[in-house]
Amino acid sequence: MCGIVGYIGKRVAIPILVDGLKKLEYRGYDSAGVAVLDCEKIVVSKSVGKLVALEEELGQSYSQSCIGIGHTRWATHGRPSQVNAHPHCDCKQDFVVVHNGIIENYLELKDMLIEKGHKFASETDTEVLAHLLEAYYEGDLEGAVRNVLKTIRGSYAMVVLRRQDPNKLVAARKDSPMVVGLGDGEFFVASDITAILNYTRKVYILDDGEMVVITEDGVKVFDFEGNPRAKEVYDVKWDAVAAEKGGYEHFMLKEIHEQPKALKDTMLGRLEDEKVVLQEVDLTLEELAQINKVYIVACGTAWHAGLVGKTLIERWAHLPVEVDIASEFRYRSPLVDDHTLVVVVSQSGETADTLAALREAKNRGARVVAVTNVVGSTVSREAHDVIFTWAGPEIAVASTKAYTTQLEGMVLLGLYLSQVKGTLPKERIAEIITALRKIPAQVQELLDQSSLIKELAESFAKVENTFFIGRSLDWAVAMEGSLKLKEISYIHAEAYAAGELKHGTLALITEATPVIALATQRDVYEKTISNVKEVKARDAKVIGLTYKGNTSMAKSVDHVIYIPETMDELSPILTVIPLQLLSYYVSVARGCDVDKPRNLAKSVTVE
Ligand code: F6R
Repeated sequence: MCGIVGYIGKRVAIPILVDGLKKLEYRGYDSAGVAVLDCEKIVVSKSVGKLVALEEELGQSYSQSCIGIGHTRWATHGRPSQVNAHPHCDCKQDFVVVHNGIIENYLELKDMLIEKGHKFASETDTEVLAHLLEAYYEGDLEGAVRNVLKTIRGSYAMVVLRRQDPNKLVAARKDSPMVVGLGDGEFFVASDITAILNYTRKVYILDDGEMVVITEDGVKVFDFEGNPRAKEVYDVKWDAVAAEKGGYEHFMLKEIHEQPKALKDTMLGRLEDEKVVLQEVDLTLEELAQINKVYIVACGTAWHAGLVGKTLIERWAHLPVEVDIASEFRYRSPLVDDHTLVVVVSQSGETADTLAALREAKNRGARVVAVTNVVGSTVSREAHDVIFTWAGPEIAVASTKAYTTQLEGMVLLGLYLSQVKGTLPKERIAEIITALRKIPAQVQELLDQSSLIKELAESFAKVENTFFIGRSLDWAVAMEGSLKLKEISYIHAEAYAAGELKHGTLALITEATPVIALATQRDVYEKTISNVKEVKARDAKVIGLTYKGNTSMAKSVDHVIYIPETMDELSPILTVIPLQLLSYYVSVARGCDVDKPRNLAKSVTVE
């Protein structure tokens, strides 16, 4: 997730671009840059770090050009650096581009362009866009952009400026947001409304598959074939703070709602019909044959993702897996050597305990694979192989979209290992891939029922203790559900393996104790229901979660939340959604600080 902005009008562009980028910094903040057209030349300024660094770089005597584009980056392809920062140019510096998203087929395009003699400066996927424009240009910028759009695969919002077209910006979007601001004799283009709210409240919200040509005279919208599209002007009524949160009341809710896209992005370019492609992981059959044990090491929510990973890897790749809390792992002399695969999971890639565990594992000779959300993070740099989750920046302290994309990372890794080892038949892999592809839409289906969860949350607001129970993968999700509720609503919540209750905890269940029972795993369903009956017999108030079509649970609980039908192994990605929403609405109802819960920090960089 990056932020892009463009301006054309009568005012000096640079301050407007920088101001817009400041509002978009929440979308990414590892580097930034602007490009303007000055004396028939494209002038690019970039810097690493937050926007203040770019402001310092630009100083006071910047170009007075009235047309330009800007970008604030959240690294995906290529670590954060000056050279990887946008905007990116072609060989002759005729075309300059900013881009948000992922160009899935960039490697093959890059090879093709290099063969034709193009020289690349950066490691980014974006740079192929500038070189493709150079290669395709035949006297018409819009035509060249259209041809580029036909060539690339992936998700993108991009803005293009050409040196010899001093009064024109061309932009396009597919699966990444983009708006066009309509001012008085001036126009703006940006990743979201926040960036331009200081200048105009009249916008076109571009749809997927739309391309826009912006000149001083006006804005024309087309489809990718060049057919004109009529657009309605949208009058923005939100204030700037709400706009930054995309109109949501809190970052957490926004991030919960971003999950369909984050999950879609994370699988982008990694799924074929019968195969998972993990370009960043390079484990050969010979290397894997040497591995006799896997450790998954992480903290908090990431550890919960690891608990799911254990079952998937054991079930699919037939490798024994231990899951460790990072702060415990390093002090218990784990039996790790060069026959061990250590998987570290970390959203930030900077968690001190996880990093220490990674170093410990490397010192002992283990091969380390990281699953992380931040390109350029210490974890991503120090691990041997990295699976990036493409969730974009997570601002709320409580992790939501990072968790579900970590679960997806575990699915990808489990399939990858089984593929290399040949432990799953192709048909089974194909079946899992088909089910995985449906997950983003199924998450959306659950999000569309938020109002039902909100109603349930009202009854939770006054509760002080609650239990989450489940078996197998449901138990792992129960732990995540209880952590979410604890951390943002300060309600004491315990997660228990459902079969373990009767060994002590059942003593705590009294009349009206709320119990959330997860029952999505078909092989242990009957057993879980027996445990539900045990708590019901003590008059607990039970909310059950099970898959759609299973009508039997309603007979045993007070309320049922239905999860769309999927494979048991993938259900954690769905089951957690109502639990995230429940925690969110309970926290709001209790008047807690949802995005910044007391005593907590987003990234724990101390031991
Ligand atoms: C809880 C939460 C934390 C993090 C943990 C690890 O919602 O976000 O438990 O999961 O601090 O952080 P990362 O994944 O950055 O290593």
